[in-house]
Amino acid sequence: MKEYEFEGLRILVQEPSLDENERLFNPDDSEKTLRFHRSLPQYRQTELVSLSSCAEKYGIRSIFVKDESSRFGLKAFKGLGGSYAMFRMLCEIFSMDPDKTDFTAFQDEGIRKKCAEIHFITCTDGNHGKGVSWAAQMFGCKAHVYMPKGTVEVRRKAVEEAGSAVCTITGYDYDETVKMAARIAEEQGWLLIQDTAWDGYEKIPRFIIEGYLTMAAEIREQMHGADPTHVFLQAGVGSMAGGIADYFLSTSAVPPLIGLVEPDGADCFYVSAKEGDGLAHSVKGDCFTIMAGLNCGTPCKTVWPLLRDSSAFFCSCSDMITELGMRTYARPEGNDRPIISGESGAVTYGLLLTILRCEKLRKIFRINSDSVVLVINTEGDTDPDDYRRVISRL
Ligand SMILES: Cc1ncc(COP(=O)(O)O)c(C=O)c1O
Repeated sequence: MKEYEFEGLRILVQEPSLDENERLFNPDDSEKTLRFHRSLPQYRQTELVSLSSCAEKYGIRSIFVKDESSRFGLKAFKGLGGSYAMFRMLCEIFSMDPDKTDFTAFQDEGIRKKCAEIHFITCTDGNHGKGVSWAAQMFGCKAHVYMPKGTVEVRRKAVEEAGSAVCTITGYDYDETVKMAARIAEEQGWLLIQDTAWDGYEKIPRFIIEGYLTMAAEIREQMHGADPTHVFLQAGVGSMAGGIADYFLSTSAVPPLIGLVEPDGADCFYVSAKEGDGLAHSVKGDCFTIMAGLNCGTPCKTVWPLLRDSSAFFCSCSDMITELGMRTYARPEGNDRPIISGESGAVTYGLLLTILRCEKLRKIFRINSDSVVLVINTEGDTDPDDYRRVISRL
C-alpha cells in the first residue's frame, strides 16, 4: 500500500483483489428492489448527467454523474434504502412474500391499521432519517429519529417535514447516538432501522444496502452498455459505497477501479486500510467537517471486507475539495448542465477535478484519454444556507 499527500488530500493506493466470498449480492437482486421502488407513487428514475464539456476539457472519454438531488423529493438517495428495508421488515411482520408483493398491498385498510401500531427508530446525520420519516408516513407507521450533537436545526426540521417522524438532537456524537437508538429500541419494543451493521445487527442494514441497488441498476441502464473505468464513491459508514461497488464489480466486463472518498475528519476507512491488520477501526473524537452525511466514525461491518479488498484508492479529503465540487457543479464547463450538489454530494467530483488538474495525480489514479468516470451526486442543497455560503464564493 502506497501513501501520497497533496494539499487537502491524502491517498492510499493498493492493488485491488476480488474475493467471491466477499460479494454482497447477485446483480439480479436489483430487479427485486427496482420492482418495489417502481410501485411507489413518487418513483421516478433520476438523471444520469454526462459532463461532456468537462471531460473534453481535461482529455478523458466521459464523466457521468448520477444526480440524486431530486430522489423522492428528499434531495438525497437515502430514501431508497430506508423504504426498501421498511418494506422487507413489514413483510416479515405480516408474513407477506416480498417477491410476490409490493407497495400496493400496503394500501389495504386492514394492513394500514396494523401499521399504525408499529414504531421505527433510527439515528441519522440527516438523509437516512429523512428517508425513514418519509417511508414511515407512506406505510402509515410511526418513526422516532435521533441526530448527533452539532446537527443544524434546518436538518432536524427537514427530517420531520419529510414524513411522520419525531426528531430529536442528542448530546452525543454519531456513534454514541446509534448506540442510544439501539438501547431505546430494546426498551420500548420499537424496530431499529439503522443503515450500518455491527455484530448481531446485520439483517436490516443489509436490506438498506440492497435498496441502493436500484440506483446502480438505473445507472447501468442509462450507460447503454458502457462500463465505467473508475467509480468514485462517498463513504460515511460505507453502506452505499459497498452496495454500488459490489454491483459494478460484478456487472462490468473489466472491473472498474473503485475510489472510496471520505472527509479527513471522519476517515474511518482510510485509517482502517492504513492500519493494515484487516480489521475495521473507528475514528474517535468530535470530527468536524461540512460533509455532515459522511461524518461517521465506524465502518459498516457488512461492507468492510469487500471495500477493504476491492478498493483501489482510499481518499481522505478536506472540506476545500467538496467546496470545489459544489461550485463547479453549480457553474459547470461549456454546455454541461448545472447540478445542485450539497456538501456530502460533491466531494467525489471535487476530487475528480483535483486529479484531472494535476499530472502526478492523473498517474496515481491511472486516468487517461480512455477513462470513463462515474460519480454520484448523493445530495442536493440539504443545508440551503451553507450551500449558498459555499456557492457565493468564486
Ligand atoms: C448525501 C450522502 N452521501 C453519502 C452518504 C454515505 O452513505 P453511507 O453512510 O452509506 O456511507 C450519506 C450518508 O448519510 C449521505 O447522506
